[in-house]
Amino acid sequence: AFAVELRRSGRTVTVPADTTVLAAVRTALPDTAYSCEQGFCGTCRQRVLEGEVDHRDELLTDAERDDSVLICVSRARGEHLVLDM
Ligand code: FES
Repeated sequence: AFAVELRRSGRTVTVPADTTVLAAVRTALPDTAYSCEQGFCGTCRQRVLEGEVDHRDELLTDAERDDSVLICVSRARGEHLVLDM
C-alpha cells in the first residue's frame, strides 16, 4: 500500500495493492473524472506535485510524465505521492 495526498483538498487516501489510485481517490473525491480506466483516454490525468510515479499507461509522453499521472492505471514507486487535486 502507499499513500496519496490530495493537497488542494487536504485529504490523504491509502491505496492497497488490489485497488487503483483512481478508486481510492474517488472515496474522498467522488466527482473525479475518468472514462476508459485502462490508461489510454487521458480523462483521469492529474498533476503530480511530489513523489515518484510508476507509469503504467500507454498515452503520456516522457515530457508529460515529468509532472502528470493517469491515476486509473499508474501507481507510486515509493510510499507517498502528492497530487494537485
Ligand atoms: Fe482513461 Fe485513465 S480513465 S486514461
